[in-house]
Amino acid sequence: MSSFKPLVFSGVQPTGNLHLGNYLGAIRRFVQLQDSHDCIYCVVDMHAITTWQEPAELIRATREVTAAFLAAGIDPRKHIVFNQSRVVQHAELAWIFNCVARMGWLNRMTQFKEKAGKDRENASVGLFAYPTLMAADILVYRATHVPVGDDQKQHLELTRDIAQKFNNDFSARIAELGAGVEMKVGEETVNGFFPLTEPLIEGPAPRVMSLRDGLKKMSKSDPSDLSRINLTDDAETISKKIRKAKTDPDGLPSEADGLKGRPEAENLVVLYAALAETSKENVLAEFGGKQFSAFKPALADLAVEKLAPIAGEMRRISADHAYVDSVLRDGGERAGMQAEATMKTVREIVGLLGN
Ligand code: TYM
Repeated sequence: MSSFKPLVFSGVQPTGNLHLGNYLGAIRRFVQLQDSHDCIYCVVDMHAITTWQEPAELIRATREVTAAFLAAGIDPRKHIVFNQSRVVQHAELAWIFNCVARMGWLNRMTQFKEKAGKDRENASVGLFAYPTLMAADILVYRATHVPVGDDQKQHLELTRDIAQKFNNDFSARIAELGAGVEMKVGEETVNGFFPLTEPLIEGPAPRVMSLRDGLKKMSKSDPSDLSRINLTDDAETISKKIRKAKTDPDGLPSEADGLKGRPEAENLVVLYAALAETSKENVLAEFGGKQFSAFKPALADLAVEKLAPIAGEMRRISADHAYVDSVLRDGGERAGMQAEATMKTVREIVGLLGN
């Protein structure tokens, strides 16, 4: 039985500042996966423009996210790093998926509801169709694994639904062309052109929360800069933000159970554990019974120790436009060849004359 070759794909939007949530929930995981898998990491500039972006700022942010990938340790020669708009096949497949996905499916997407807010009528069509482009990003490489933070879970479920509907809608044609690959779906073995991609939502911090509100996720779009630690923050700013982080009046418990109902305290403990690459239990064994006035400086020191080298590298690399652009160009060429190979078959499957 032939099966899909394991391939990792993930993307990050070049909008606003990259923060600790992006790093711990996604980018650090990207770095780890490159030892065991072929990986494609994409700066999704076409997703960014689903809300208006100042063009020069979009270019700057595209280079900065690329620099963050490289500074964190992604190897662009062994793997592929590129920006989405260079590979037009993403948009081509997204259109086909717009015709496969159902309005009802997209209507259920909570991220659209959050981003569009009350003024849905005024949101761009692109913002509504955002998840079909995301499915195309992944499936144009027939990627099997996608490392992301917890907030992308629903989008990845939709990606599987789209793959499955495409496989079903065109099953006869896929069989006729011999383009199918066998895969296990639960107990069943089915044959399809697109894999049912698995999300990798793992690691100690799949959902890093805001420093100002333990019930909200840390986000690029939060108006308060105190709510997040940006990867470009200097040591003083990181310390200040952790010092000002919201907590409750109690000290740290000795057991993880004692964090229940204390989202801000839990978030700081999770951050410490993730940065130190240890467990919450170990952190509490060390700090249980202490006050936040003792814990916060330790957390700030650890965050500075882990993030300062990345921030320094990011600054150095993003200033070297020629180098960053050459990485993206080279990555785009290699990604483009793979994407075109998929699209040649997709056009035949769907019945679009064009090859
Ligand atoms: P984006 O740019 O919002 O975020 C990039 C990655 O960071 C993760 N993340 C977090 N993880 C933990 N805690 C947080 N507070 C936190 N905030 C963000 C996100 O889950 C993501 O993994 N739609 C995607 C980009 C995308 C994509 C794709 C991802 C486009 N195409 C294909 C995977 C595969 C997004 O907006 O991520």
